[in-house]
Amino acid sequence: MSDNLFDINVGNFSFRNPIALAPMGGITNSTFANERANDAGLVILGGYNLDSATQKAAAEMVTRGRKEFETHEPFKIIENEIKAVNKGPVIGINVRSSKIAPLIKTAELVKNAGAILELDAHCRQQEITDVGAGQALLSDLPKLSEWISRIKETGVVLSVKVRANVVDDIELVQVIEAAGADILHLDAMKEGSGADLKLIKEVRDSTRMFLICNNSVTDVETAKNMFSRGAEMVSVARAVMDEPEIISQLVNRISMQQEDMGWYNAPKHVCRGEGDLRGLAFCCLPVKPCPVHNVIGKLGYSAQEFADIKNEFAKGTMLEYGDSTCFGSLVWCCKISKPCFLRDGVLETLGLSDSEYMRLKKELADYIIDQAKKPVNAKA
Ligand SMILES: Cc1cc2nc3c(=O)[nH]c(=O)nc-3n(C[C@H](O)[C@H](O)[C@H](O)COP(=O)(O)O)c2cc1C
Ligand code: SF4
Ligand code: SF4
Repeated sequence: MSDNLFDINVGNFSFRNPIALAPMGGITNSTFANERANDAGLVILGGYNLDSATQKAAAEMVTRGRKEFETHEPFKIIENEIKAVNKGPVIGINVRSSKIAPLIKTAELVKNAGAILELDAHCRQQEITDVGAGQALLSDLPKLSEWISRIKETGVVLSVKVRANVVDDIELVQVIEAAGADILHLDAMKEGSGADLKLIKEVRDSTRMFLICNNSVTDVETAKNMFSRGAEMVSVARAVMDEPEIISQLVNRISMQQEDMGWYNAPKHVCRGEGDLRGLAFCCLPVKPCPVHNVIGKLGYSAQEFADIKNEFAKGTMLEYGDSTCFGSLVWCCKISKPCFLRDGVLETLGLSDSEYMRLKKELADYIIDQAKKPVNAKA
């Protein structure tokens, strides 16, 4: 499988595929990553406890049976662990701290070692939240924002890991982005019902940050549900303990999909309310009453402006062609997974493969969002 099949980049990092190993404290070390996530695009080790307050909290958690990385030398461990991961995946280091200074020190170290730092604003174990770390950061947005800004001053590529449905997620995401984080790692947990797919779509439509999602991914279908709502990467935690091969299986299946379809995280159509803003790439000419009008309104486009922006993109590309289609050009045509002999006839005449068609649609989606009069991450 080609290492350039996916074009997935954040900062100076390039991920070879969109499947990640999610962090599990006391479990996801270099040995675990090498054995079970050697094929991943990203492996996140940790979480490591950086200061005495979080280390003490972790020791208390161990006494009630929870696994944790117990060490008073976290910086040394992190440095050694990064070196011990096999070449291939990008490495992320998930960390918890009750103070900013150790985070800055780790950010420098991680950056120099060629890895990504992940701030754990997710852990809800009471011993951790009692010292103001993990999920406690979600209840103190000014502090979270200041920490992100200060960490980013080091130049490290920063992911922030959060759990959904704890606070107002859209406000949270916009604070995290405005503070300068590069990646949002969203545990889309919805109490009692696995992943909150509707929320992933809403988050996708509120931020331009690189989006990693997880919760209850156990097979390619559950991963695809997240990709089609706008996740750029999907991470897996518990299933990797139950099924050591799952990362390899997901990488193979999603790579096949990318080869066939050209856009592994293509959105759904917006008609039924499931498609995110990128779904506008598959929308018709806006000539009749339908959900498109509400969706383009979010980007500040009138119907005419939306028609103009799509035609502007199409000019000089293969999407310009297609007289025999519903609206006279492929730029208004549906997703390749929707069967249509009219569109497919045009593709055949043009010699345009399904994946090339979908790649153009992806570029079109980016163009529609980039040119928006109302940016998606504008504060409501
Ligand atoms: C045993 C265990 C330990 C975890 N430790 C961490 C951690 O240290 N830092 C963190 O950000 N998330 C941690 N998580 C959360 C996972 O990264 C992930 O968000 C969550 O388990 C949902 O994904 P899953 O359904 O694939 O397991 C942990 C999860 C488990 C099960
Ligand atoms: S424009 Fe077409 S594809 Fe888009 S929402 Fe309306 S009917 Fe659906
Ligand atoms: S020609 Fe087919 S693909 Fe194109 S808009 Fe009509 S139904 Fe959709």
